[in-house]
Amino acid sequence: MGNVRTIIDILDLSTQEIDELIDSARDIIANPSAYAEACRGKTLATLFYEPSTRTRMSFEAAMYLLGGNVITVASAANSSAAKGESIADTIKTVSCYSDIIAMRHPKEGAALVASRATGVPVMNGGDGGHCHPTQTLTDLLTIAREKGRFSDLTIGLCGDLKFGRTVHSLINALCRYEGVRFVLISPEELKVPSYVKEEALDAAGVPYVETTDLSEHMAELDVLYMTRVQRERFFNEEDYLRLKDSYILTPEKLTDAKQDLIIMHPLPRVNEISVAIDDDPRACYFRQVLNGKYIRAALILKLLKEAGTL
Ligand code: NCD
Repeated sequence: MGNVRTIIDILDLSTQEIDELIDSARDIIANPSAYAEACRGKTLATLFYEPSTRTRMSFEAAMYLLGGNVITVASAANSSAAKGESIADTIKTVSCYSDIIAMRHPKEGAALVASRATGVPVMNGGDGGHCHPTQTLTDLLTIAREKGRFSDLTIGLCGDLKFGRTVHSLINALCRYEGVRFVLISPEELKVPSYVKEEALDAAGVPYVETTDLSEHMAELDVLYMTRVQRERFFNEEDYLRLKDSYILTPEKLTDAKQDLIIMHPLPRVNEISVAIDDDPRACYFRQVLNGKYIRAALILKLLKEAGTL
């Protein structure tokens, strides 16, 4: 519908646009009062059909930071989806009340379907096991602030690399930078899907190794990105129970790690990182949470400006 910009996949943003969003987020962090009226009179709708704490609340906190309004549906059970309404009809309705929409849905491709039914910008807050572009923006702002660069990094991704949508989007984003190398740490059954390897890693000629052992490459890592085993995407509970504690990061496991390693996690954490790590200065998952608010504010501003709403 028209030329309205939607963010369904991290590849919907160019490298230059990502740099601009990071600069914009940094400016919001440095001068929050300059943005306090930026979205006055504008409304964000959040439509979340899967559980969420950080993604939905950070979108909403971002809109409040910009002086805008927020309306929300926080679960499918409380919306007309429970009565059988289609995504397209729901989005047409929500568009009557809002200037921009953030949504999460259990089905892959749902945000794309929604975006085609509206002239209002749609931001994908996670579509099944597929993509999670605004988590990736959060992750990129975190890497930019903590490491000062995206190039020449060895990045360990650990846990559920099959169903973890944050992992898929992050690989797609980081593949664009020079000197990036991945260590993919997962059980055999939870390896990165071959479409991600082919379309992102192989297409960009990015080197990677796959291993089941968290310690094997620890000493080489600049970034360690832990993830939760995605219980809700398993076909049977027995497999989940068998795999859920495959990796638990403890202080002992960091013995060989670099002093300037950063430990990230999109959260929620279940058991993947021992709480004993939380006080280690290298643990940046709660700083990562805060970054999510600022980068989403930058994204809302960009999309509303491009839509001619601001
Ligand atoms: C992630 C998600 O929803 O994909 N959470 C988040 O948005 N921060 C990761 C997860 O649920 O494991």
